Amino acid sequence: MRLQGRIAWITGAAQGLGEALAYRFAQEGCSGLALSDIQVERLNAVADSIHAQYPHSATLALPCDVRHEQEVVNTVEQIARQFGRLDILVANAGVIHSAELTEMTLEQWQWQLDVNLTGYFLCAREAARLMKPQGRGVIVQINSKSGLKGSYKNCAYAASKFGGIGLTQSIAMDLAPYGIRVNAVCPGNLLDSPMWQVTLFEQYARKWGLPEEAIRRYYEAQVPLGRGCTYDDVANLVVFLASDEASYITGEAYRVAGGQL
Ligand SMILES: NC(=O)c1ccc[n+]([C@@H]2O[C@H](COP(=O)([O-])OP(=O)(O)OC[C@H]3O[C@@H](n4cnc5c(N)ncnc54)[C@H](O)[C@@H]3O)[C@@H](O)[C@H]2O)c1
Repeated sequence: MRLQGRIAWITGAAQGLGEALAYRFAQEGCSGLALSDIQVERLNAVADSIHAQYPHSATLALPCDVRHEQEVVNTVEQIARQFGRLDILVANAGVIHSAELTEMTLEQWQWQLDVNLTGYFLCAREAARLMKPQGRGVIVQINSKSGLKGSYKNCAYAASKFGGIGLTQSIAMDLAPYGIRVNAVCPGNLLDSPMWQVTLFEQYARKWGLPEEAIRRYYEAQVPLGRGCTYDDVANLVVFLASDEASYITGEAYRVAGGQL
């Protein structure tokens, strides 16, 4: 119960890591959870299921496309109206499209920059506008190991995530005087996530002419600890950073990557 009584907003919460973090935040005692995503039906189902399992946690599904300024503004207004404050933002919504530089279209590039970087900026800005008068708050961005080291056939994704680290370090300075801490978490490959299971294994298998199982073994072999990253690996650090135990930590980017990099 390290987040007892906290109000948290998690973006990209309809599936994958965002959904897992939402369950974990409820388990850790959050009294209010605002969950956003563009997949409205899935989001509603996740919010209902969390509230059924953790009745102490008022769970709101607030559909929001993080690329759209007015939607982000409206979402934070709804959080303020419903909960009266916001303690934690987890900027998790993210997308990836793998392509070698000469095959990357401007549209694919722009989409990844818009969601991963501009979306983080808009959510952090609106959350901070609510948090500043409170004199406290925490922002955690879900970044990636690709935000710290270039990524093969993933130039747009890596560029967007490198940008996220610069944004994190900079706004940590802007917001420190108001008691708001900002940190990034950089997971390794979450090989069981929909991002890999639905998108990346298929894309890489097609590009490299190998079976999907061989791609998985290749990625596991890159990790000194010998396995893919799990949701719990990431959630353990996110909960710590969101809690008061991390009250002297801001402007950092932490890897959770099994020794990779
Ligand atoms: N899967 C991995 O291996 C991995 C590794 C490192 C970092 N990450 C990061 O973790 C985060 C979550 O990834 P995941 O693996 O759970 O992916 P995912 O694709 O399963 O989930 C991402 C969620 O974001 C939502 N989303 C997409 N565009 C959106 C938008 N414009 N506005 C609001 N929501 C939007 C999607 O609908 C989806 O529910 C991302 O930021 C990703 O970059 C993932």
